[in-house]
Parts: sequence; C-alpha cells; structure tokens
Amino acid sequence: ARILVLHGPNLNLLGTREPDIYGRTTLADIHAAMEARAKAEAVLVESFQSNHEGQLIDRVQAAAAESVSFIIINPAGYTHTSVALRDALAAVAIPYVEVHLSNVHAREPFRRHSYFSDRAAGVICGLGAYGYMAALEFALSRLREAQP
Ligand code: DQA
Repeated sequence: ARILVLHGPNLNLLGTREPDIYGRTTLADIHAAMEARAKAEAVLVESFQSNHEGQLIDRVQAAAAESVSFIIINPAGYTHTSVALRDALAAVAIPYVEVHLSNVHAREPFRRHSYFSDRAAGVICGLGAYGYMAALEFALSRLREAQP
C-alpha cells in the first residue's frame, strides 16, 4: 500500500520559518519519522513538497495512476486559495486528511477558511509536527481495515 504526503508552499523552510508558529522540526525530520512508522506496517510513504500550485496538482493526478490509497496533505497557503488543488483531489477521489502545524483558528481570520476541509476524512491543526503522525496512524488504520 502507498500513502502520499503533500506539502504546499514554504513548507520546505520548516525548521527556520517562523519557528514560534511552526516549530523547529524540519520536513526531512517529519518524513523520516513517518517513513519509519509506515515501514513497520510494510506501507510505503512518499513525500512531495512544492511551492507551485500546478506541480501539486500534477502530483495529485499522478497519484491515481500509482494506486495511492491515502493522501495526507498540508496545502499551506493554498489551503485558503486553491479551488484547483481541491478539484484535483475530488477528481482522483483518493481519501485525504488535511494537516496544519499551527492552530489556524487562533490566527488571522483568513486562515479559518479552507477549500479542503469539507471533503477531508478529517482535519488536524495545532498539533505541530505530531499532527502528521496522528494523520498517518489514521491512514494506517484505514488501510488495515481495507485489507481482508
Ligand atoms: C499552515 C497554515 C497556513 O495558514 C499557512 O499558510 C501555512 C502553513 C500550517 O501548517 O499551519 O503555510 O498550513
């Protein structure tokens, strides 16, 4: 089984980007932890970060052909703007969990609206890097249920 982890713009800077808000854990740290956890269940975790909306859309479209069974996505700034990335997820119809490191409800009002939440299996925010691990546990449990 395969799980795709998508990271939107500026998340390549995790670790040094506004550490008071986003923490000091890097994207590489997050990926390593997720990979190790998934390996124990013989599940493949692939991570993809892009600062470009079209590249994220292309990656979602490719996931359908690669038989990815679950997506964990932090759309970052595109959370609040991207109808196109939302449409891509709807098109491939792969279940996803939306993750935000920060508590988007405790920040600027424009961060409260997400183009992804109403179609997500679930939404995690404010738990920092741990949110990705929580999303992964959920995805793994879903995959276990799907297996006979
Ligand atoms: C974010 C929250 C977004 O509002 C912001 O644009 C980000 C990161 C988070 O993980 O907390 O880039 O998705």
